[in-house]
This record gives sequence, structure tokens and C-alpha cells, in this order.
Amino acid sequence: MTDRKRILTGDRPTGRLHLGHYVGSLRNRVRLQDEYECFFIIADLHMLTTKPGPEHIAEIADNARGLALDYLSVGINPGKCTIFLQSAIHEVYELSLFLGNLVTVPRLARLPSIKDMARAALMDEDTIPFGLLGYPVLQAADILLPRAHLVPVGKDNQAHVEITRELARRFNGLYGEVFPIPDDLVEGGTLVGTDGQAKMSKSLGNAIFLSDSAAVVRKKVFSMYTDPNRIHADVPGTVEGNPVFAYLDMFDPDKAEVADLKERYRQGKVGDVEVKERLAVVLNQFLDPVRERMAYYQSQSGLVDEIIYAGTLHMREVAAETLREVKKAMGLTSAFNRIARKAEDRRKKEAATAAKSQAGAPAPAGKASH
Ligand code: TRP
Repeated sequence: MTDRKRILTGDRPTGRLHLGHYVGSLRNRVRLQDEYECFFIIADLHMLTTKPGPEHIAEIADNARGLALDYLSVGINPGKCTIFLQSAIHEVYELSLFLGNLVTVPRLARLPSIKDMARAALMDEDTIPFGLLGYPVLQAADILLPRAHLVPVGKDNQAHVEITRELARRFNGLYGEVFPIPDDLVEGGTLVGTDGQAKMSKSLGNAIFLSDSAAVVRKKVFSMYTDPNRIHADVPGTVEGNPVFAYLDMFDPDKAEVADLKERYRQGKVGDVEVKERLAVVLNQFLDPVRERMAYYQSQSGLVDEIIYAGTLHMREVAAETLREVKKAMGLTSAFNRIARKAEDRRKKEAATAAKSQAGAPAPAGKASH
């Protein structure tokens, strides 16, 4: 067995990943996978907190495959990491229920993230379901099941890791030391969308996906927002807040060239077309190895499924082990064991009595029916 510390993090399976995910979390995960034993959760139960309908459930398998494929394409190594489907781990449901007793309703209701998610799902405060209120508790169960030490998350999820820490402390204090207190690792970097207005996101339609073809990337780059005041190429342009330059800063390995382009842009000596041309090349060069891995995994029929399957079976073992300890620490194992032992004793006695009375009597013609 390995003695590396553990990471748990993941995403809800609601669609394919884009460059914003790469900057915000994926590159960090790729970097950490050698140092830590990583568990990546495909959090479909969390998706159900705002999208519980059968039409959403019907999409889980495909979305889970797409998510895992995106992970693998950026270089997550399935030989080192565990990618698993949350809803197939019944211990998550159980642990979440126990943890729910260790936090107050107002503590959860105060979290801005719950209200944000409700708003995004077009719910108002009075229609927030119990499950959405419990979102951070379910997330704590995810994190505590593999007894993770580190949880890389975005800022919006930082409070959920704080809740997890409180729950772990509370559990350990009440029942005994079962869980390490996990640290959060707030992931740096957000990427502005191609509209230059808001964070890159699928729902705003301003995203460049890891799975976009070179032609689509080119088209998206050429329709990007730049500097609205710059009607002609020979007018001085603004670099600050210009998403084309934000992307060049992030993805162009040739920093000297970016500096030169910025300088000329500010002086009105380079047009948007040339800058966008360069960006399209840079992004496609960045995405080429991603596409190559994606094509490989897609060419191997059933391979992505196998990776999720094997990861889920592995996670089931890890989860079962933790839950045994959880129930033992809580004393729940012995509650049922005491009842079971007495019942089994009675069953044995009854069987012995039945055998004795049958030994004296002639064997019945057929089996007794129960
Ligand atoms: N809450 C995460 C999101 O915003 C997904 C998630 C579920 C998660 N369980 C987790 C992240 C555990 C980190 C750790 O989609």
C-alpha cells in the first residue's frame, strides 16, 4: 500500500469541460497526481440537488463519460488516480446521513453558495429543497470517505471544506478519532469568457471546450470581444481587460512575443486580426496533445467506462473500510450485533428443537413450506 497523502476533488457531471476548468482546476490536479493519491469524484448525487428530474438522470452516464474523458485528455493518469461515480457508492449516502446530525440548519442556510446555486437553478429561498441545504454535508461525506487530507476547490467551495472540517472535528470528538481534518487548497485562476464580460462558463455560451476542434477554436477566437473602442487597427488599443491578451498571457509559452504584441497593440501598430491569428495558433498548439489523448481514449471502445468502473469498484472498497470504522466508533455496529446475536441464538435453539422432534417422528413426504 501507498503512504502518500490523499486528495479528493471532483465535479458534477453537467457537461464537457472548457479552458476555464483547465486554468481553475485541471492543471492543478495534473500537477498533484504524482505527489498525492488522488480520488476524482463524478458527483452525480450533487447534481440531483438542483436537477432531480428523470431527464437529468438519463444523461448521467454520458455526462460521466464525457467528464472522465476530459480528465484523461488533460493528462490525468488512470494508473495513478481513482475516478469514480458517486451514486454507485452507497456509503456516501450513509455517511452523509450521520454527518447531517452534526451541523445546524442555520449554519448551512447562511452559506452564500447554497443561495447562489438555488438562484442559478431558478429557485427562490422558499423553494430550496432539503437536499440542496445538505449539499455541503454530502460533500463532506465525499471528502471524509477516503479520509482525504487535501481538497483542491474553487473559492465558491471553500466554505464547504470548512464545514467538512467542522464535521470531522465534531465526529472525532463525539465518537473517536476516525477522520483526518482535511485542508483546502484554493485553486488559483479564473479565465474570462470569450465575451470578455464574465467568467468562462458553458451556460453563458462564452466557453472554448477542451473537445472543440481546431476549426471551432479558430472561429471562436475570431469572434472574440476585444477592445470596443478600437474600430481601426491603427488606433491605440487597450490590453487590460482584453480577453485575447488574457488568453495569450495564460497559454502562450513565448512570453517575449506576448510582451511585444502588447506593446505594438498599445501603440496601434498591430491589428486584432494578427493578434487573434496568433491566439488561435497558441490555443490549438496547447490543445493538440489534449486532442491526441482524447482521440486515443475514444478509439478504444469501452476504455473510459472501464476506467470509471474500476475506479468505482476500488472506491467501494475504500468506502466500506471507512464506514465499518465509522459505525464501530459510533457504536452502531454493536447495537445491531447485540440484537442479531440473540435472534441467532433463538434460531439455533428452534432448529435444534425441530430436529429433535423430527428425529422421533417419521420423515415428512415433502419439504415443509414456510
Ligand atoms: N461541489 C463541487 C462542484 O461545485 C463538486 C464536488 C462534489 C466536490 N463533491 C466534492 C468538490 C468533493 C470537491 C470535493 O461541482
